[in-house]
Amino acid sequence: MASPIRPRALITGASAGIGLEFADQLAERGYDLVMVARRAGLLDQHASRLAKQHGIATETIVADLTTKPGLAAIEARLAADPAITLLINNAGFGGYGPFATLDTFTIDGLIEIHIRAVTRLTRAALPAMLERKSGAIINIASLLSLSGTLPPNPLPHRAVYAGAKAYMLAFTQALTGEIAGSGVYLQLCLPGRIETQFQAIQGIDTSHMPPAMSAPDMVAASLAGMDLGESVCVPALEDTALLATLTEAQRAVLRTANGQTATAERYRG
Ligand SMILES: NC(=O)c1ccc[n+]([C@@H]2O[C@H](COP(=O)([O-])OP(=O)(O)OC[C@H]3O[C@@H](n4cnc5c(N)ncnc54)[C@H](OP(=O)(O)O)[C@@H]3O)[C@@H](O)[C@H]2O)c1
Repeated sequence: MASPIRPRALITGASAGIGLEFADQLAERGYDLVMVARRAGLLDQHASRLAKQHGIATETIVADLTTKPGLAAIEARLAADPAITLLINNAGFGGYGPFATLDTFTIDGLIEIHIRAVTRLTRAALPAMLERKSGAIINIASLLSLSGTLPPNPLPHRAVYAGAKAYMLAFTQALTGEIAGSGVYLQLCLPGRIETQFQAIQGIDTSHMPPAMSAPDMVAASLAGMDLGESVCVPALEDTALLATLTEAQRAVLRTANGQTATAERYRG
């Protein structure tokens, strides 16, 4: 008897942290995995462990998603494989620092990985999913995408990171509206601080900070959100009515100001 076809997920940033945890929990759910990151050794080590533990097929692709060839390789992999049923756009880094002194390499990297790579990989994966009328894409943004009005301290200096994550929010929400009824599921995930190497890589000492959520709990929430069909998943948010209030406030500004031909009275001399 032919063995049943397993679902297949491509995860960016699968060598560590949240992406590796997605790999673990999706392997547990019986997914075959395509794992993407820069550190070949870590990727291979985890891919063979998961293949052995769960009897799934794993493939690793070493790619730097801030480079054009790295991104093109993953785009090509997605476009060539209509059997990929789930894309997790997770790879990322913080690059925190006061904007006026932030180096251009960091600025470009933040934009490339959180904006360009997320957009282009979604574009590469979507046509086959639309054709099949099924499939899912999870974009890992951050609660910091909502943080534009808050000054630094205790939050980090983060203008580019928060701006890029806010792009992911508007992009995923607008695309969700565009493909409504297509059978393809999109999730925007907004985690708060999660216990990974994310801060240490930036040289941030977290020892004085309150405890963070664990990556296993965060990823379990995102996958439960997918099972529930939530379009926005905020792992720690109990009161989802707050999300409805946020949406309503955005729409009220849009509704009231859009289509007006006259400027507001305070701008008239
Ligand atoms: N941890 C938090 O507090 C937190 C909170 C909210 C949102 N997030 C978001 O969650 C996502 C995952 O973060 P994490 O906490 O798991 O951080 P992490 O432990 O530092 O892991 C980041 C992952 O992204 C990969 N990556 C980084 N730069 C890459 C590049 N140029 N090309 C390809 N892969 C790259 C890393 O692999 P290689 O180094 O091997 O390439 C690694 O697998 C990020 O998008 C982050 O913004 C994190």
